[in-house]
Amino acid sequence: MAESSRSALARFVALVEQRLGLFYDKAQWGELEPLLAERAAGTGVERYLEQLASASSQQEEWKALAERLTVGETYFLRHPTQLETLVDQVLPTFLRQAPNIRVLCAGCSSGEEPYSVALLARERGRVDSSRLRILGIDVNPRAISHARRACYSPWSLRAVPLAMREQWFQRTPEGFSLRPQVRDQVIFEERNLMEEAPAFWAPGSFHAILCRNVMLYFPPEAMRRIIARMAQALVPGGYLFLGPSETLRGISDDFELLRGGDAFYYRLRQPAQPTSSALAMAQPVALQRTQSQVTLPVVTPPAPAPAPDGVDGVLHLLSAERYTEAWTLLESLPQSSQPKALLLRAVLHLHAGRLGQAEQLGRQLAAASGTEAPAHYLLGLCLEQFGDEVGARSRYVASVRADPTFALGQLRAGTLARRAGDVVEARVSLRMALSLLPQEKPLYLSLFGGGFGRHGLMQVVLQELQACTEVP
Ligand SMILES: C[S@@+](CC[C@H](N)C(=O)[O-])C[C@H]1O[C@@H](n2cnc3c(N)ncnc32)[C@H](O)[C@@H]1O
Repeated sequence: MAESSRSALARFVALVEQRLGLFYDKAQWGELEPLLAERAAGTGVERYLEQLASASSQQEEWKALAERLTVGETYFLRHPTQLETLVDQVLPTFLRQAPNIRVLCAGCSSGEEPYSVALLARERGRVDSSRLRILGIDVNPRAISHARRACYSPWSLRAVPLAMREQWFQRTPEGFSLRPQVRDQVIFEERNLMEEAPAFWAPGSFHAILCRNVMLYFPPEAMRRIIARMAQALVPGGYLFLGPSETLRGISDDFELLRGGDAFYYRLRQPAQPTSSALAMAQPVALQRTQSQVTLPVVTPPAPAPAPDGVDGVLHLLSAERYTEAWTLLESLPQSSQPKALLLRAVLHLHAGRLGQAEQLGRQLAAASGTEAPAHYLLGLCLEQFGDEVGARSRYVASVRADPTFALGQLRAGTLARRAGDVVEARVSLRMALSLLPQEKPLYLSLFGGGFGRHGLMQVVLQELQACTEVP
């Protein structure tokens, strides 16, 4: 690359980091090159960069870049233990202090996360929904209009139990529409976390903030500024939930780390409170009684396990739902035609919504020997995304024909059979799934488990079997 082009690219990368918070290391700069060429085609690169630097972040060009550069992967009931902790333990503690409880989902993408809070709060009944105010913000305008439409694909609902789906969603030709009473409980706003906006982050604005899987790619300095704003905007003792791969270590001392089940989250320290390490030393295993009467253990963060390399590293990142990193790692490896690498590539295409590419690889793998079962399964997932449940069901049936011990294929075939009213067929497949799940291959659980472990999937099968008995 010519020196002048390299310097233009460096300025573009720096502007993107400064305005959107998105960090690209040198090895990734090449990803931005075609985008810069495309956006600057009308004006020339120099003029384009000048205009970009002087444009406010609310101007159209920055919105267009946000749409192209952000990663919006999300789904309903993602990291469920955190959400359960929020609605069962955290929010009820504020009921006596405030008429309304305010929750912010920062980086809410297409709305699945704030709607999950609303849905779960209704299901659990610990907080009166009329007192719950939920606000979702995101820098991507397309994600925000999707959130306002509140209509979702089956893939977005993959972790929603059947009974919940039937109660709160309506099947429409476009997908699953959230019922208006839940939809209207959440409001959305286009907003960039990198902007200061003191009025928005005014003290005491929120009781809890969820900012999960958003700052993974932010440089530490940007994260520090955003977390400081969030600390200021929380009520005293307010709560912050980050994604499982994100941490405040080295970023902020304003919070203490807590644990509920296997979920980690943070609480704003009270000025007079001892530090978490002092508490942990005084009573390492005892439960701490907080100002708001809820008992929550104060813990030290677990040391992250070293990630494996190569294709196994990709699988590890995929299981942790770190799809963008998984994709970057996969791209950095020598192109491999090994079935496991191809399967991973196809699943990552699917997660990124590149259904055409996922389907193409799926067909290739379905024709090869040894990968027919997962390939048919993947093709079934693609067809479900296209809304073709009949086609998807025949793919799942093909997957178990190719490998009769494939529990996930049996589960999905059974689920779609039940939905089609074919209860006898559904029961057979679901019972097979139940008996096969304890031995399901770890690779398949990582690729297709939808965030559920073996036990969680067995619960899903039991719910499906229960639903079969309810079919008239
Ligand atoms: C991976 S999604 C996470 C969605 C949801 N929180 C979850 O965990 O399922 C990350 C979201 O953060 C948003 N985001 C990235 N940078 C942002 C910024 N500077 N301001 C606001 N939102 C941002 C992206 O547009 C994207 O929708």
